[in-house]
Amino acid sequence: MINNQWIEAGTIENFKENNKKVIRINDELEVMVIKIKDSFFAIENKCSHDEKPLSDGKIIDGEIIECKYHGARFNLQNGKALKMPAVTPINIFKTKIENGKIYIQID
Ligand code: FES
Repeated sequence: MINNQWIEAGTIENFKENNKKVIRINDELEVMVIKIKDSFFAIENKCSHDEKPLSDGKIIDGEIIECKYHGARFNLQNGKALKMPAVTPINIFKTKIENGKIYIQID
């Protein structure tokens, strides 16, 4: 189990707008990193409704991801479920930029 570590997610210049990058942390955890405008978001790549990958979904209004499978929506900043059939938030992770690289904090 990884606790409180910063994991490198790639160089900033390789992130394009609205492009999603999935990083496998271990057997139980995949994190999706996405750049929107000049901000980076990192969320667990698992819908809280039926555990399908949120990386298949689409971004709406610059801060919401919609699950491709049954239409649940989540806020990328706080993980809150915004639309049925999901009622449980998704896990989110802090991000930081250092020396041109993006890092995600796994706690
Ligand atoms: S798996 Fe995402 S809405 Fe059902």
